Amino acid sequence: MYGKIESIRFRATPMFFLGPIMTTPTASIASVPLRIESLLQQLGDFGLAAGAREVIRCGDFDGKGNRALADWLSDDRELCQRLLRWCNTPLYNLARPFRSLEEACGVMDGCELARLAVLASVRGHFLPDRQVDQYHRETLWSHSIAVGAAAAIISRTTGCGDPSLIFVAGSLHDIGLRASEQINPQALGAVMSLVDELSPIHEVERELLGWDHACLGEAVVRHWGLPEPVALVARYHHEPEQVLSGTWGDGASGDGASGDGTWGDAVACVALANYRCSRAGWGTVGRQYLPTPSQPVFAHLGIDQGLLRVLWQQLYVALESVKLLR
Ligand SMILES: [Fe+2]
Ligand SMILES: [Fe+2]
Repeated sequence: MYGKIESIRFRATPMFFLGPIMTTPTASIASVPLRIESLLQQLGDFGLAAGAREVIRCGDFDGKGNRALADWLSDDRELCQRLLRWCNTPLYNLARPFRSLEEACGVMDGCELARLAVLASVRGHFLPDRQVDQYHRETLWSHSIAVGAAAAIISRTTGCGDPSLIFVAGSLHDIGLRASEQINPQALGAVMSLVDELSPIHEVERELLGWDHACLGEAVVRHWGLPEPVALVARYHHEPEQVLSGTWGDGASGDGASGDGTWGDAVACVALANYRCSRAGWGTVGRQYLPTPSQPVFAHLGIDQGLLRVLWQQLYVALESVKLLR
């Protein structure tokens, strides 16, 4: 039910309440993939809607058609209403409002619409709002969609990557946090109780759980069948240098400096957007400290001081529109 707040606070959660996914920080790095695999099994109904999976499987998500999208939308009235609202935000339509999705389909790019529909469906996982310590689903959603929009602006302005796909990747970069809440809210509450300006979430997770939301997010996104750049963004948004330098994964992933360049583009755009949105008060838990991205990120995107100023001016305008994507 919309607007219903389910509030849980777990400050000072006793360790014995935290269940089997709490591990000691001494857990070996090599065991992380196994643990992530077992966490994935515990996700239950935290899946992607059948229609969304079909849109991805059939290629509508990549602009290869629109049959699966049309079938899905004809079957989901609530999704249609949300999608039409989103299509009429200034991010997608600055002219007369579309009166129907059919009208929007006639104007908007099919691939863009399919991707937006997948995100509109994922939005359902953030409703109703729920609080666990300083984590709120609604704040996480605002952060996620703001990072998506900011990353797309960075992509468009710098000419790096596919802005539409980077919007999706940015919007799902922290999906591992929502999955973590689904699996064990007590453990998430314990993490959140320790997060502060000097202790970013992913570092506390590694210390307390032995894994972080980036690893879990990558597993979720791959399980949902989303493309490689979306998975890499989920995994490396706190460590973009690993993708940019080609030292990511098991070292056998080929040209990690990014194949044709698009993987590094997506990770760099989202890492910078994540930093900037967090500093601007659109963080995972409100205003949040994240370290400034390293020089290779700026160098990869070809951003100097002048371009940075232009980017941030555009960002504040876009964030106003993003508030409407709910
Ligand atoms: Fe994150
Ligand atoms: Fe984030």
